Amino acid sequence: MANSKVAGQIDVTAKANDFGAEIGGIDLAAGVSEAAVKAIHAAIIGHKVLVFRDQQLDDESHFAFAECFGPLEGHINVSTRLENLPKMQSFGNLDATGKPTGVHPEGGTLVWHTDKSYVARPSLFTILRSPFVAKEGGETCFADMQRAYESLDAARAERLQGLRAVHDWKRSREKSDERAATAAEIAAAPPVDHPLVRTHPDTGARTLYIGNHASHILGQERAEGEALLADLERHATQDQFIYRHSWRDNDVLMWDNRCTIHCVMPYDAARERRVVCRAVVQGDRPV
Ligand SMILES: [Fe+2]
Repeated sequence: MANSKVAGQIDVTAKANDFGAEIGGIDLAAGVSEAAVKAIHAAIIGHKVLVFRDQQLDDESHFAFAECFGPLEGHINVSTRLENLPKMQSFGNLDATGKPTGVHPEGGTLVWHTDKSYVARPSLFTILRSPFVAKEGGETCFADMQRAYESLDAARAERLQGLRAVHDWKRSREKSDERAATAAEIAAAPPVDHPLVRTHPDTGARTLYIGNHASHILGQERAEGEALLADLERHATQDQFIYRHSWRDNDVLMWDNRCTIHCVMPYDAARERRVVCRAVVQGDRPV
């Protein structure tokens, strides 16, 4: 792992293949300077996923940190919004008395996806902390969609050019065996289409833009598009493209949704306590 100091503000220790980095030398709860925001931004552009250890964020300081990177957006699943900070979201497997329910909420998090790709301007960065961390399982896995794209053979990559995938919240819920989308959610998030290969606006790199919210390919037979998406996901989630994050208490994760997909690994929801809280920065229309 290479270690470097960026702009005199933060320590950046890269993980394998430069995919992911641990960030040290900063206390996010204390407020983050403009120079530190720039350094963190440079780090996430370079490494796609950042891990901050030993942070003491609460909902308010979490919100304030996330907002340094742009306007935040609420989730269309209003049941998970925080009452006092509706642009933030929290969910876990605990009942009102703090006991595990035996059910992992939001089954869509257990399958590979990129956040909110079912809207016209999908999420840019997601910033996640976990007030209750599962002791076994519950890791968050990330796949590097730039390296996955770059490893395709030229003929296969060529066949993807110009294709657009339809991303659909309603269909995504069906595929992940979640409760059906509500009428309000369907109205708020009708199907949209995005390029299957998108260009990262900061790096110019091309990335695969896929995941569970992608339902089929525009203009293709549904089954053909589904098969193509499944095949690309199999390719992109091979071990060599993965960073698997094992949570410790007081970790904060931040990732770039434009060039990664992620999912949660299973855990024993009847025994473990697992709660996450997240803030999401609005992104731009993929090109
Ligand atoms: Fe997610």
